[in-house]
Amino acid sequence: MKLGLFTDPHTSTKETSCGTRRPAMSYGKIREAMEAFRDAGADLVVCLGDLVDECDTMEENITAITELSAMIRSFGIPFECVMGNHDYQNFPREEFRTYTGSAAEVIRFGTKTLCFLDANYADTGEIYRRNALDWTNSYVPADQVCALRELLAQPETDEAFVFVHQNLDPEVERHHIIRNAEEVRTVIRESGKVKAVFQGHYHPGKESVVDGIPYHTFPAMCEGEENRFFLVEI
Ligand SMILES: [Fe+2]
Repeated sequence: MKLGLFTDPHTSTKETSCGTRRPAMSYGKIREAMEAFRDAGADLVVCLGDLVDECDTMEENITAITELSAMIRSFGIPFECVMGNHDYQNFPREEFRTYTGSAAEVIRFGTKTLCFLDANYADTGEIYRRNALDWTNSYVPADQVCALRELLAQPETDEAFVFVHQNLDPEVERHHIIRNAEEVRTVIRESGKVKAVFQGHYHPGKESVVDGIPYHTFPAMCEGEENRFFLVEI
């Protein structure tokens, strides 16, 4: 199975943000990535979150995500996006899912099971809301931990891959790490079935091996003028 991956494009109308980010370039970068994924015969494209960032008005936010989603969909490749904190700053989950057409929590592909987690919750269990979220406080709520454990225990789950915006890797800068990452890593380790974990959020990126499992944090597409996207065979 060929996976096209990219993360943290932070697409918006803003030319620069936070000094080093170039959000207005991301539409073109994503199109370039989609062309490469199409040419390589990718079976699925996954964005690891922060697909969008804030424009100056909500109207512009809606136009930006509508145009971006239409462009991505025009390639005809299945597309999923695990939401990031900036996606939640722009839109509640159901709205984001409607605009992007991405709502999968599990995808089965032959013997492979792809699990998509949403860590956009505070450790109180409260889901992120616009202007009411602290990006340093991310959490996978109990119902998702439980569902992941059950999914991994199913006999039809042979090889599994986990996708989440924030970081389960304990080796990235600590503010980026999900508060109950250790609990989720324990479920992953004990299943014996997870072959890789894919994350975004920590913009420099990081490659780690924890409990013998590769934890890939991909570098952010929005940083600088250079494009970053990845084709992974799983
Ligand atoms: Fe980001």
